[in-house]
Amino acid sequence: PITKAGKYDDELLETATNMTKPGKGILAMDESNATCGSRLEGVGVENNEENRRRYRELLITTPNLGEHIGGAILFEETLYQSCADGTTFVDALKAQGIYPGIKVDKGLKPLANTNESWCQGLDGLADRAAEYYKQGARFCKWRSVVSIPDGPSRVAVTDCAYGLARYAAICQNAGLVPIVEPEILLDGDHDIDTTFEVASWVWAETFKYLADNNVSFERMLLKPSMVGPGADCPKRSTPEEVADYTLRMLKSRVPPATAGIMFLSGGLSELDSTLYLNAMNQSPNPWHVSFSYARALQNTVLKTWAGDDEKKDEAQAILARRTQENGLAQLGKFVA
Ligand code: 13P
Repeated sequence: PITKAGKYDDELLETATNMTKPGKGILAMDESNATCGSRLEGVGVENNEENRRRYRELLITTPNLGEHIGGAILFEETLYQSCADGTTFVDALKAQGIYPGIKVDKGLKPLANTNESWCQGLDGLADRAAEYYKQGARFCKWRSVVSIPDGPSRVAVTDCAYGLARYAAICQNAGLVPIVEPEILLDGDHDIDTTFEVASWVWAETFKYLADNNVSFERMLLKPSMVGPGADCPKRSTPEEVADYTLRMLKSRVPPATAGIMFLSGGLSELDSTLYLNAMNQSPNPWHVSFSYARALQNTVLKTWAGDDEKKDEAQAILARRTQENGLAQLGKFVA
């Protein structure tokens, strides 16, 4: 069978469909305690559980956030936290019409005998996924990375693709819509053609293993990097060029059944991430091509708040504007 009927099939389809309504994307706010901490410390806020909770409460209680956000990806700690008034974060999100999601991978580790990394977290995943579903999560994320300057080696690409596919199969069986994220890092001075070549290899492997594992494409979301030049490449690309390369890659590698293509921002500037997405949505394509940004949604929000609750309204207004701009870009209607 192409897909195996499971007890969560209808719910998975409903979740994936609702998360990919026109004009909607995903708010990635699943930074690990270490990453969230270094961003907080970057604006002078101490990295402790209460400050991480305060910052995340600001994000998810932004008025009307659900207009352009269909899902919010949380770190495990955040899935179990509550607002100051006692409302759980899960309920606060649901009240906004936003699906709570959970990062389920256990992070990157050095890949022996290479300078690259691999993503761990498959051991015990079925049990953890069942717990997260009970807690209210309805989708999940697994991020594996491929580095161009440090490789990529065959073993790294195979491990990335195989791990993503095993994870996606396990989580669909537990009622969580998997976000499959094979991130090709922006770091390096390689040109856009090199990125294209590597992406075409990584995406081909990823979809091969997804198919081998009977993952239902209608019930998963792909979270890729856009196909552009490395961050230090002297030859910069226009939004149209990035859109052209990325769409060519999508068309040659990604089944139209895939529920959504939710790009990561990967260190792009806030404006570029929106312009590139908008350029991709200038012509019709068979997918829901949208965003699942962390930094490109949060950077200015965090700087504005910087731990001061007097600035909360201002910071929330910035998040609302960033989600609206990217919602317009999803429709191809953003004007800078
Ligand atoms: P960025 O948009 O900051 O790249 O983060 C997206 C994400 O969730 C990476 O896993």
